Amino acid sequence: MVTGAGGGIGRATALAFAAAGAAVVANDLKADGPGMQGLLRDVAAFGGRALAVGGDVSREDDVRNLFARAVAAFGTVHVLVNNAGIQSDAPFVEMTVAQWQHVIDVNLTGQFLCAREAAREFRRRKVPPEISRAAGKIVCMSSVHQAIPWAGHVNYAASKGGVSLLMTSLAQELAPDRIRVNGIAPGAIRTPINHEAWGTTQSLDELLKLIPYGRIGEPEDVARAALWLASDESDYVHGTTLVVDGGMMLYPGFRGNG
Ligand code: NAI
Ligand code: BGC
Repeated sequence: MVTGAGGGIGRATALAFAAAGAAVVANDLKADGPGMQGLLRDVAAFGGRALAVGGDVSREDDVRNLFARAVAAFGTVHVLVNNAGIQSDAPFVEMTVAQWQHVIDVNLTGQFLCAREAAREFRRRKVPPEISRAAGKIVCMSSVHQAIPWAGHVNYAASKGGVSLLMTSLAQELAPDRIRVNGIAPGAIRTPINHEAWGTTQSLDELLKLIPYGRIGEPEDVARAALWLASDESDYVHGTTLVVDGGMMLYPGFRGNG
């Protein structure tokens, strides 16, 4: 199951899982939007299986329905990629409570609600030895901004800081059930969420100053990391965050200084 799969990183992740043979439950706000319909077509084109379920991850009823639909269609859920997330940026003194709350609701409460439903299902089903060594896997999409402070985006940075400790605390609590929980902290990935940062040559040049590896990330860079974290190849990896950022977290401002 991949939330926020109608575009960007979620879409690439859903495609990567379907290409690897998984039956994919793709969630986004609307099941019949162009992104979701395009995803279903692309998965069908290579003979994969996908189900689109509309729903807002910050709403408990929608999340319950999402899991009920998934279980009804495919019998159970083995992997949750907690990906849906938004930005609503503003200078701190101008940020409204609505902007603060919306970002916390989707980015943090949404991950709590989906992870809770997934853990309930994994605990009920237990380890399926024919499928995996773990009872289930949860991958929480965080951001380099779980660690890098971000002026003008305090709601977003706070939500991702929260995701980091949600993820590690869940990992600690759910390990005895053989439920693996990890996070991914992407740097700048070319998607609609940050179009402003790469949409012009000038903005891209500015952005690249922050990325030692010298290129912007693509959604597939993150999708491959999610696939690995969900596979038995990473069976002993638990409670960690995989940073996928071309070196953005390496304090590039210190090159030649400090
Ligand atoms: P995006 O804006 O391209 O895609 C996000 C998707 O989530 C959209 O399809 C949107 O409709 C959906 N969504 C929004 N609110 C939702 C809700 N309440 N319920 C269900 N779906 C909802 O963004 P992108 O870049 O693909 O972001 C995906 C995740 O990756 C987010 O959690 C974001 O914070 C994170 N991320 C993105 C980075 C980037 O540079 N693009 C870097 C670090 C983290
Ligand atoms: C944000 C993007 C930003 C990236 C690197 C992500 O979490 O959603 O807008 O480009 O971090 O700063």
